[in-house]
Amino acid sequence: MAPTRNSAIIFNEVPTGYPEPGKTTIFDENRTIDLENVPLNGGVLLKVLVVSNDPYLRGKMRDASIASYSDAFKIGAPLSNFAVGRVVRSEAEAFKVGDHVASFLNFEEYTVMPGAALSWVTKLDNKVNLPWSVYVGAAGMPGRTAYSAYHEFSKAKKGETIFVSTGAGAVGSLVIQIAKRDGLKVIGSAGSDDKVAFMKEIGADVAFNYKTTSTDEILAKEGPIDIYWDNVGGATLDSALGHMNVNGRIINCGMISAYNTKEPYAFKNIMRIVTHSLSLNGFIESRIGPKHSEKFYREFVPLLANGEVKYREEKTPLAEAGEAIRKIQMGENIAKSVIVVAED
Ligand SMILES: NC(=O)c1ccc[n+]([C@@H]2O[C@H](COP(=O)([O-])OP(=O)(O)OC[C@H]3O[C@@H](n4cnc5c(N)ncnc54)[C@H](OP(=O)(O)O)[C@@H]3O)[C@@H](O)[C@H]2O)c1
Repeated sequence: MAPTRNSAIIFNEVPTGYPEPGKTTIFDENRTIDLENVPLNGGVLLKVLVVSNDPYLRGKMRDASIASYSDAFKIGAPLSNFAVGRVVRSEAEAFKVGDHVASFLNFEEYTVMPGAALSWVTKLDNKVNLPWSVYVGAAGMPGRTAYSAYHEFSKAKKGETIFVSTGAGAVGSLVIQIAKRDGLKVIGSAGSDDKVAFMKEIGADVAFNYKTTSTDEILAKEGPIDIYWDNVGGATLDSALGHMNVNGRIINCGMISAYNTKEPYAFKNIMRIVTHSLSLNGFIESRIGPKHSEKFYREFVPLLANGEVKYREEKTPLAEAGEAIRKIQMGENIAKSVIVVAED
């Protein structure tokens, strides 16, 4: 059989600021794969269908000598992330041709998961019949992030007030809906009027555009806050600190405002951690997700399928993944960013 095209997004250069398509990453269309003969070593050959584009990928675009919780990308090799693929060849009893799987896969059209890597591959039964792309979003890592950290750290009581930054995003929009179902008053912030409208649609009691409205003024009027879900860090976290209730809980999910900058933010309200007996809970999904995973798939994922919990996606073809990566880092994505490699 003639070699088949296997284009990929290659990590080309460590960025100093925002990642640039064509410089930080390159779309390489000249790679090929021999689908019939490529060695599987007891594993599977997958056709990659969708790959997630997440803010944390910026942290993997670093010099490999710098240690972190997640491995650095290798210069000259494809990027990789949470993904869904379909089995096209298999040497593993547990996986049949045609099975759909979730795994950590390369940004390329076909990829081999050898036998030694199969513990990272999970068969998706998809009894609820969701589109495969949702398994890298609301029914994947971002969904597990919202669900597991909310249940692990919020200690929410009905009637309390939660503030969610980046409230229209992949994680934030689910936190808003989980908190509303839990009987909380929800305040959400986001960076455009379209995102504000979406936050209202999914039940936020107060939704505002932090680029045109003062976060401090809104929180002074609608707070104090019992729980702050922080996706942003920096000035927004500082404002939230200034409006926390005594015994408030801050869930430190991410700090996207600092992913592409060099200067650290100087906090003004940090002493309130002491004066208001606040607890701060940072976490990484892979460390707490497994504890909540069974309940997440049994109770939460069906709510995505029956429409009780809503999600939005922004799809980009593989060739344009570099631009989608730049957009998410600059806050220009309008919804959960998904790279579509193939339809099925
Ligand atoms: N701890 C974990 O295990 C874990 C897991 C998943 C995600 N996270 C974190 O959760 C946060 C949200 O992730 P997500 O996947 O849901 O992303 P997302 O919301 O779908 O996309 C990123 C959004 O961040 C917002 N943003 C706010 N301030 C920004 C700034 N200064 N520069 C650029 N963007 C800014 C933008 O929305 P606006 O227009 O509303 O500003 C942008 O659309 C991120 O910080 C991420 O790193 C953490």
